[in-house]
Amino acid sequence: MTRKRSGADVESPSRRGLLEMLLGASLAGLVTSVAYPVIRYLVPPEEAGDTGASVMVGRVEEFAPDSGRIFRFGRKPGLLIRTAEGEFRAFGATCTHLDCTVQYRPDFGVIWCACHNGRYDLAGKNISGPPPRPLPEFRVDIRDGEIHVSRVA
Ligand code: FES
Repeated sequence: MTRKRSGADVESPSRRGLLEMLLGASLAGLVTSVAYPVIRYLVPPEEAGDTGASVMVGRVEEFAPDSGRIFRFGRKPGLLIRTAEGEFRAFGATCTHLDCTVQYRPDFGVIWCACHNGRYDLAGKNISGPPPRPLPEFRVDIRDGEIHVSRVA
């Protein structure tokens, strides 16, 4: 709505206020859309596994003897193995050489890193290739048929 004043168009205060409010809301939206991802990147949320909490990996019956599964443990991968004898073992799945993700190789009977053919035994100990250290071992608890993995205290 405009009013004529001395032959020139002059915006009414209510229209100016509405435009200022819309501009302010647009700026607030822009600042929020830029700042939120930056803040989330700098301060990521804590996840189970980061805090020492346990992670439920699956049910016992899902794992055949002599098999393994990569699972998410916090921000890093974990590896759960069911040995040929039926025992469950869990490790950090990040190779101690250059951080590739390791896997269980039933054909070799070892934990294997595809990047440089590094090998670990089923206790997580580095046995050949370039890995300099064993894999970190996790605690495995079975409760009501569920397999829970947590950091060793
Ligand atoms: S990163 Fe695993 S052997 Fe090099």
